[in-house]
Amino acid sequence: MADVFELRINDDNHVMSPAELADALAWADVLCPTVTDSLTGELLSAPTVNAKLLANFGVGFNHIDMAAASRAGIAVTNTPGVLTDATAEIALTLMLISARRAGEGERLVRSGQWHGWHPTHMLSTQVTGKTLGIVGMGRIGLALAKQAHYGLGMSIVYSSRVERSEQELQGLPAKHCTLDELLAACDFVSLHCPSTPQTRHLINSDTLSKMKPTALLINTARGDVVNERDLIAALRQGVIAGAGLDVYEAEPKLSKGLSDLPNVVLLPHMGSGTTQTRVAMGECALANIRAFAENRPLPNQVS
Ligand code: 8YV
Repeated sequence: MADVFELRINDDNHVMSPAELADALAWADVLCPTVTDSLTGELLSAPTVNAKLLANFGVGFNHIDMAAASRAGIAVTNTPGVLTDATAEIALTLMLISARRAGEGERLVRSGQWHGWHPTHMLSTQVTGKTLGIVGMGRIGLALAKQAHYGLGMSIVYSSRVERSEQELQGLPAKHCTLDELLAACDFVSLHCPSTPQTRHLINSDTLSKMKPTALLINTARGDVVNERDLIAALRQGVIAGAGLDVYEAEPKLSKGLSDLPNVVLLPHMGSGTTQTRVAMGECALANIRAFAENRPLPNQVS
């Protein structure tokens, strides 16, 4: 790309300020933003904007005001498909690590406070054979459902706007139900819906109270699908047993009190973070940028 474009790179990976993003939008023809680059309506509708393509490095694009981009005549592309398995793996990792208290166990050994085996030491919850509820049966939800069903013999239920056909489910036995039915029935609830005005705070004190007190909540989707304050209260009061999180409402910041809780596992938004997947995402973003440079149809245009 360096032979086609003059490049500016956010070398130290800092969260870019609105002023820096405004400057980038004014200077560049193409921006390759990530999830922490908040491209608001205000930034995208400024008269100084020169950018014509936002080649997002990632599949989710809730950090981009799509209506404002469209009004400004800026195309948006994403990187679908290539991160499905890696993200499903992190959801499965969070299920196992939370249920089996692996984070606590690892911290105990590392701290030198492990004093030996005992029949009732660090008892945890078995995952095999339990019921998993998938909220949002897209590519990643289906990949996790397959890993959990075929790998761990889990029963799968799911809620999504539309019921998936047998062909879409690729033969996986999975029962479609309402969110309330799913919350009441499941030992694990894993979120895989996009962040939209409709899904914002879908998980809140009301929906959390519909879960089993023994259940675990897993979020590898977007932080704002969960009301983090309500989740902290629910984890404190034992409304649910635990949670495994890879995403946060104001990442990289955490809500006050979250990191003090023993029954939550916290990961730094690393769902797609395998070398294989990040290379594939980069190649996908480059394919979109190359098509733009050559004036061809954009392979992964979302608006
Ligand atoms: C990315 C993600 O790493 O693709 C997504 O939607 O959430 C992550 O896997 C992130 O978005 C990078 O911009």
